[in-house]
Amino acid sequence: MRQLVVSSFLCVLLFSGSVFSSETEKEKLPKCEHVDPYENLEGWLALKTPAERKCNHTTVRDELNESEKTKSEWGIKSFAFDVLASEKLGPLRNVGKQAHKLCEEEKYDASFSTSIVVIHHNEALSTILRMINGIIEFTPKSLLKEIVLYEDASEDEHVLTKHLEKFAKLKGLEDKLIIKRSEYRQGLIRAKVHASRLATGEVIVFMDSHCEVAERWLEPLLQPIKEDPKSISLPVVDLINPVSFDYSSSMVAKSGFDWGLTFKWIYLPWEYFETPENNVKPFNSPAMPGGLLAMRREYFIELGEYDMGMEIWGSENIELSLKAWLCGGRVVVAPCSRVGHVFRMRRPYTSKPGMDTALYNAVRVAKTWLGEYEKKFFAAKPRGTKIVFGDISENIKVRDRLKCKDMKWFIENVYPELEPKVHDEL
Ligand SMILES: *[C@@H]1O[C@H](CO)[C@@H](O)[C@H](O)[C@H]1NC(C)=O
Ligand SMILES: *[C@@H]1O[C@H](CO)[C@@H](O)[C@H](O)[C@H]1NC(C)=O
Repeated sequence: MRQLVVSSFLCVLLFSGSVFSSETEKEKLPKCEHVDPYENLEGWLALKTPAERKCNHTTVRDELNESEKTKSEWGIKSFAFDVLASEKLGPLRNVGKQAHKLCEEEKYDASFSTSIVVIHHNEALSTILRMINGIIEFTPKSLLKEIVLYEDASEDEHVLTKHLEKFAKLKGLEDKLIIKRSEYRQGLIRAKVHASRLATGEVIVFMDSHCEVAERWLEPLLQPIKEDPKSISLPVVDLINPVSFDYSSSMVAKSGFDWGLTFKWIYLPWEYFETPENNVKPFNSPAMPGGLLAMRREYFIELGEYDMGMEIWGSENIELSLKAWLCGGRVVVAPCSRVGHVFRMRRPYTSKPGMDTALYNAVRVAKTWLGEYEKKFFAAKPRGTKIVFGDISENIKVRDRLKCKDMKWFIENVYPELEPKVHDEL
């Protein structure tokens, strides 16, 4: 996800919160035994939850023996979260009802067959398996068509495809899981497009590879798509702590961006939620964080998918948001839909050597969609003027084919907060 500063700040808060609480009141639970899923998949899949096992999965650094220490440090280095805690947590947990109480009374009747599309690159086995198990457990069978697991050329020690195939066999999920691997690195954006082309459901849900769904997460997410087929529907992204793996619900917010096309959260005023129905009613969002979204598969194709000229990561979320809004659709947040996401301590990816891929991608978006407002972008990102941004003719074709509106319309109708206030800014 994009809001690295905010999220790591939140993680610090959550972590220190959990350190200061309990301990004195609660009896001290024994540490959970460690079963390594890479070495003993069957054994790991048979583990019950820490609550059922009456043990504590959290890592206490100075109580670890050598092999556990090695594992934990490998996890921090490879994934930017504590993989030992994740492995001890086990193959499935119920994070419960995370949405507002009033959501329980809501009735949903959208019934699209749904494909979940997951790209993974150097992901931890325990995290992705807990996510898959959660999806299978907490999604109505009638809605879940398949889960596409697309491995984007993980480095050798992190290749998961063979483990995932074994998992599918052990659990009898061969017809539900589409497991594919790209031999060379596509980057998240192109990988998402390739993976989406393997999906056959009416709706696709793009989901990051380190998430856990809450109870009744999909039904409220599909409803806005039934009401308007040109909807991109977003769940509320809850927080999974990268150290303790504690799950906590996050504030309901809209997404936006600044003139540098950098993602940001837009928090809603407290008064907004004093009206009870606002806690359940979907609301418009100018943009999206990008790691979690649902839309009709046909609609994704109609919008020209993601820009295949983009590199690795960044700005594809802004581009898709602009495309939806400017070309007759909308982006909405469904506050009753909750999906947790591990907010990692840092982004553990390598980028393309010598290239600021996020800036490269942002320039492509600016050149395609901002029109005269591109001046604002280049003022915010002066290094962008030196970027050779490649061929954007496919993007322009989409814009013309769909007769998309311009940025002025977007500012006036969707995102007035972006309005250039020249005097304030200078
Ligand atoms: C588990 O251990 C950690 C670290 O000592 C502690 O902060 C936490 O409260 C414990 N959790 C439970 C459920 O006992
Ligand atoms: C470290 O502790 C784990 C229990 O969590 C145990 O399974 C493992 O054998 C121990 N390793 C060593 C080297 O003592």
